[in-house]
Amino acid sequence: MIKIAVLVSGSGSNLQALIDANLSGQIVGVISNKPDAYALNRAKQAGISTAVIEHKQYPNREAFDDVMHQQLLEWDVDLVVLAGFMRILSAKFVKAWEGKMVNIHPSLLPYYKGMHTHQRVLATGDVFHGCTVHYVTAELDAGQALAQGVLKVTHKDTVDRLAQRVHVLEHLIYPQVVEWICTGTLQHTEQGVLHRGRLLEEPIQFFKF
Ligand code: GRF
Repeated sequence: MIKIAVLVSGSGSNLQALIDANLSGQIVGVISNKPDAYALNRAKQAGISTAVIEHKQYPNREAFDDVMHQQLLEWDVDLVVLAGFMRILSAKFVKAWEGKMVNIHPSLLPYYKGMHTHQRVLATGDVFHGCTVHYVTAELDAGQALAQGVLKVTHKDTVDRLAQRVHVLEHLIYPQVVEWICTGTLQHTEQGVLHRGRLLEEPIQFFKF
């Protein structure tokens, strides 16, 4: 059974969706860089081990990442799931977990990397928006996209409303992608990412209109 660690910094609604999904893999631990992250309560409620590793207590990014790395090794983790983890990871850490670490980002990557995605979508007047699950590479929000949840922006949307609507999609697609990884339906291989045994060239798209 695949052992999963979830890295969080905040509310952890994606963590909750993963817990509720009853994955084939086991969430063996949750790491937060913030001691007051609500996600920690969710983990405890579900009986999952937690570790608070505060970035502020380390002299630099590498030192912080090394402690996280050691914790992941201790838990014997196969897959690292970033769920609202608000730290940029060092190249060394990313390399160590290459092909074994995924993230969810609130935009249709490659569009709108970085912060304030909903605001930027509204300012541009885009018709479509959504979220992307992708492998994590050293370049921010640039690893191979595995799946996207797509919604249609309406005239009623504000930043908050869009954030809420995108969250609903996140809670649908993230557990699905993680489950596919757990069952081997999605595989990271030397030849590329395979989905149901075939090379994945474009992210799998889920629509919710
Ligand atoms: C999500 O919007 C996700 O896309 C981004 O951080 C947010 C985390 O939300 N990476 P939550 O903590 O899972 O509720």
